[in-house]
Amino acid sequence: MNSIDLPHDFVWGAATSSYQIEGAVRADGRGPSIWDTFCRVPGKVLHGDHGDVACDHYHRLDDDLDLMASLGLQAYRFSVAWPRILPAGTGEVNEAGLAFYERLVDGLLARGITPFVTLYHWELPQALQDRGGWEHRDTVQAFVDYAGIVAARLGDRVHHWITHNEPWVVSFLGNLEGVHAPGNTDLATALQVAHHVLLSHGLAVPAIRAHAPGAEVGITVNLGLGRARTDSPADLDAVRSLDGYANRWFLDPLYGNGYPADMVAQFGDAMPVVTDDDLDAIATPTDFLGINSYNPSVVRPADDPANPLGFDPLTPDEMVAEGYSLTAMGWPIVPEAFGQLLTRVAREYDVPAIYITENGAAFDDELVDGAVDDQPRVRYLQDHLAALCVALDEGAPVRGYFAWSLMDNFEWAWGYEKRFGLVHVDYATLTRTPKASALWYRDTIARNGFSR
Ligand code: FCB
Repeated sequence: MNSIDLPHDFVWGAATSSYQIEGAVRADGRGPSIWDTFCRVPGKVLHGDHGDVACDHYHRLDDDLDLMASLGLQAYRFSVAWPRILPAGTGEVNEAGLAFYERLVDGLLARGITPFVTLYHWELPQALQDRGGWEHRDTVQAFVDYAGIVAARLGDRVHHWITHNEPWVVSFLGNLEGVHAPGNTDLATALQVAHHVLLSHGLAVPAIRAHAPGAEVGITVNLGLGRARTDSPADLDAVRSLDGYANRWFLDPLYGNGYPADMVAQFGDAMPVVTDDDLDAIATPTDFLGINSYNPSVVRPADDPANPLGFDPLTPDEMVAEGYSLTAMGWPIVPEAFGQLLTRVAREYDVPAIYITENGAAFDDELVDGAVDDQPRVRYLQDHLAALCVALDEGAPVRGYFAWSLMDNFEWAWGYEKRFGLVHVDYATLTRTPKASALWYRDTIARNGFSR
């Protein structure tokens, strides 16, 4: 029997984000966000889905808190919707928005669940996008002000703060690939956005600490190792490029190394102006690194020699041909790459602590007789936690794990089609049904580990 045991003070949680679960997009003074807008652009979101209702978490808060407690969650990572707090992005503060998150935090604490607050999980107020969005430097200060407002209200009770969720997605999926809001497709824009997002993180850290003395403050990045089909020099160079684009572009400046020179050369004229002061601010010391990781990226040299990214991802069919099994997202399932990633980050960067702020998988779940027997998800979680333990043994300072996601929700460009939840949501009735994975996770938390 293979027994996996976690350190006694390991933190077990689950994660969500505001736009993906809350609904109630016009309730109590919330302003529109770029996702409200983007969902209305024909062809951008599968089936024309949007977050107007989502899981209706906003109106079902108490029941959802009880659900978390029934699973024995020790921590819950959620995000604050900026346009609930500042409907126009800056200026007038919406008391009802702050009151909602205060109720959420108090409800968690009353149930013994530690809140981990993310300030930006992609809900930029549309009013700021109208003034240039993250491409415009003014948005940096707007974020710092917003962070201070939320911290002033919750900083006496919230001791774990995450500035941004996944700057890579914000920058490159939103502004180079155009598949996320606001939907731009320009490398220079994406790099400018990345720089401003990172800068706003660094400047927000002291603004949060000022209101939450003793709190742990960090940022969450999405990371994944690169893999190729062979060890040929061309394939290895594609892996280097992928690693620069997906991982080092964010980790290097966050840990004081500036932007990686190989990628700066590759990006050429698309590079924004970067000052030493900016780089110093971005490298403001933090208390932990949040890592979201689902899969490695399998790549090959770019077909187009002029492609500044230097690689192309393998298609799902190509990955299957290489022997990978895939989730419903078409993402390869490679647990050992998750452990290797954590070990590598701990070795190469001066990270005081790591929280896995997201890990999980979408599968084509079926609700049969009121139950979802999602054994593939149980296996995915088991194998990734086992890999995490290998990284712990190798010295990676991993302090906790948040399953993505507490419940099925609005999966961005995929709408409601992809289900990542431990808890099934019937979107017609909004009924929540814990899947087999939720019950397995509850038992795993209770015994601080599991046997296979
Ligand atoms: C991450 C996001 C999260 C969710 C998962 C599947 O990139 O942070 O909101 O969509 O992927």
